[in-house]
Amino acid sequence: MAETTKTAKLTIDGESYDLAMYAPTEGPEVIDIRKLYAQAGVFTYDPGFTSTASCDSTITYIDGEAGVLLHRGYPIGQLAKESHYLEVCYLLLYGELPSAAQLEEFETLVTRHTMIHEQMHNFFRGFRRDAHPMATMVGVVGAMSAFYHDSTDINDEHQREVASIRLIAKMPTIAAMAYKYSIGQPFVYPRNDLDYASNFLRMCFSVPAEEYEVNPILARAMDRIFTLHADHEQNASTSTVRLASSSGANPFACIAAGIACLWGPAHGGANQACLEMLREIGTPDRIPEFIERAKDKNDPFRLMGFGHRVYKNFDPRAKVMKESADEVLELLGIENNPTLQVAKELERVALEDPYFAEKKLYPNVDFYSGIILDAMGFPTSMFTPIFALARTVGWVSQWKEQLADPQLKIGRPRQLYLGAAQRDYVDIEQR
Ligand code: ACO
Repeated sequence: MAETTKTAKLTIDGESYDLAMYAPTEGPEVIDIRKLYAQAGVFTYDPGFTSTASCDSTITYIDGEAGVLLHRGYPIGQLAKESHYLEVCYLLLYGELPSAAQLEEFETLVTRHTMIHEQMHNFFRGFRRDAHPMATMVGVVGAMSAFYHDSTDINDEHQREVASIRLIAKMPTIAAMAYKYSIGQPFVYPRNDLDYASNFLRMCFSVPAEEYEVNPILARAMDRIFTLHADHEQNASTSTVRLASSSGANPFACIAAGIACLWGPAHGGANQACLEMLREIGTPDRIPEFIERAKDKNDPFRLMGFGHRVYKNFDPRAKVMKESADEVLELLGIENNPTLQVAKELERVALEDPYFAEKKLYPNVDFYSGIILDAMGFPTSMFTPIFALARTVGWVSQWKEQLADPQLKIGRPRQLYLGAAQRDYVDIEQR
């Protein structure tokens, strides 16, 4: 825990309470209200946790106003351009960039854990063919606790480590299998001579009748998408993982809970929703109609891929993602892709519109990721599973950090109760 810096004073009905404050390495100071209820008999009220720090963490820092995202202190732009996903995984998990030998050992470890228990294939086959791959992933990842009993004891540090590596290594295999199953193609086993991103692309696109040649530029773009989604501090799905884990649940159950939360269109499901929206708009001349709908308070429609709870100037991941989209589309010779045309024009029109400027709504990472994934050949239903795959390392790092915290308590928010006051039961005849 950080050192106390100063004290905040809270006065209720003339009674004063001193609350300790802590200074972070970066970002706003926090007021410690943990003893408030015991001392003053009141709760604080913060639905959506817009002003509440739920934990202390050393993993990721975001400054939403300045558009800054740091992993262990390193800016995301530098990591996306100069590092690669598995190195970032190591950084998130262990706190420092690895030496060459440490990286090689880590990569070998992850590569050697990519296969899943053969019996899990039968588990996949129990799903309906048309199941959304996210539904399959939630089920299969939760079911890992039934297949890997030797890494479910959260009090054993070695088991925690094994579970972490298994989750990071097997998630691409599980996501690719969910996809293959949904399109009626045979599962493709991982190959140890390929890097993480190339292996995933091959497991998705190779068929027994024809080997898939991995294009290194596409593999690089895939790797960059993974890197850009690796962690994002205490977002909804990460907080879900931490809350589930606070009760002592096993790691596979906790990560399955994170996947379930990520699925929603306000979170990880936005990339799918965004591409579907761009396709629905279809041509640039229909953009004004959709902009008007997004501004209409009586219409629930929102511009998908716009806005962010934390970033209020720009999303630093969106910048790198936009460059990647241009690169991939140029490589594939589809620069005139109509969806991209609509995306670019929509971005231009929205950024010039006072409504979006006033509310500080800018394109987020999902605005361009869908265009790249679509160009690579992924159906929209695979966008969120790919996000889940990439975010697994973030969830796992935060889960490990939480379990190592000696102050860990079960997460148990309070409420502002506005229901009926105590009253007596009324017999059915008298109602
Ligand atoms: N289109 C139109 N208006 C919007 C949008 C949008 N995309 N996003 C926010 N607004 C408006 C709201 O209507 C609200 O207006 P009001 O103040 O007049 O009521 C105001 O902007 C603030 O919006 P909130 O919903 O209060 O902001 P919050 O921080 O809670 O929500 C969120 C952030 C959920 C991301 C929201 O911007 C949204 O729904 N965006 C579209 C979905 C999306 O792209 N999600 C991806 C997030 S990134 C990620 O998960 C990787």
